[in-house]
Amino acid sequence: MDLQHFLCWRVAPLFLLMLRGLHCTSVHILNEQPVHVIPGSSLALRAQIRQGPLKEVSMVTWEREPETGNDLVRVRLATCPGGGGGGLECTGTGPNVRVNVEQQETTLQINGYSRADSGVYAVTVTDHAGANATAHCIVREYEAVHHVSVSINVSHSTLVCGEAWGTEPHFSWLYERAALPQTVGEVSKDGTTLFLTMTPVCGHFTCMVGNKLGYSSATYTAAPCEAEGRGTTAAIVCLVLLLLLCGGALAFLLWRRHGHSDRGERLHEHLDDSM
Ligand SMILES: *[C@@H]1O[C@H](CO)[C@@H](O)[C@H](O)[C@H]1NC(C)=O
Ligand SMILES: *[C@@H]1O[C@H](CO)[C@@H](O)[C@H](O)[C@H]1NC(C)=O
Repeated sequence: MDLQHFLCWRVAPLFLLMLRGLHCTSVHILNEQPVHVIPGSSLALRAQIRQGPLKEVSMVTWEREPETGNDLVRVRLATCPGGGGGGLECTGTGPNVRVNVEQQETTLQINGYSRADSGVYAVTVTDHAGANATAHCIVREYEAVHHVSVSINVSHSTLVCGEAWGTEPHFSWLYERAALPQTVGEVSKDGTTLFLTMTPVCGHFTCMVGNKLGYSSATYTAAPCEAEGRGTTAAIVCLVLLLLLCGGALAFLLWRRHGHSDRGERLHEHLDDSM
């Protein structure tokens, strides 16, 4: 008896509350954030609406506000109030704004995207009871690669490639304008760092940074590699000179010995003559 009482008056309301929570209308944006848009192309956002069985959607609203700054002015982009027939009719506030609502989904499209269209987008779903559910999405301009630089960290034998503000930059390295040989070094996973294994470090190292809008590069120039070659040449020249010198000395000695014996012979002849 007691257990039944407990179930009826304590657990059941909790259970109902949970069900009500589950049945609240909710909305979430399907795009991966932040969304980057190339100027001139179009921005398309998709949001999924989950509505409770008793919570009919009466309005969908798309808005935008700046991502940063003191002046967070909300701009209404489109509203989709419920019509008499049950469907939602959408009206965009600009000629390039297109909004659509279907059963479980709403989409926003902005054609001819410009920097001014960047910001935090919000989609709000209002149910018949007047409760709101909102989802946000950051939208930014897709920017070209800027200011690539390569710096050397002498103490750690690394070259570090930096880039200022390009969107989704990917890094790659060249050595003497060709593919990086394994003997030169190893590139970090993110591509920004080149761990040098060659000794001595010499030649030209180029870091290329690219994204959908193009490439930019910077080159680090170490000491010229010819130094080693020049050293060998100098050694060879020295060796040849040394050989020549030795040869010369040997020839001189031979000549001198030959000369002496000649004189000796002549001396003998002279002595023979006088005798
Ligand atoms: C629900 O959202 C709409 C659109 O953003 C807004 O105008 C309205 O005031 C909100 N209502 C509540 C109860 O927050
Ligand atoms: C060199 O790299 C190490 C390890 O990444 C770092 O701690 C150090 O500050 C760097 N030195 C310079 C001069 O950048």
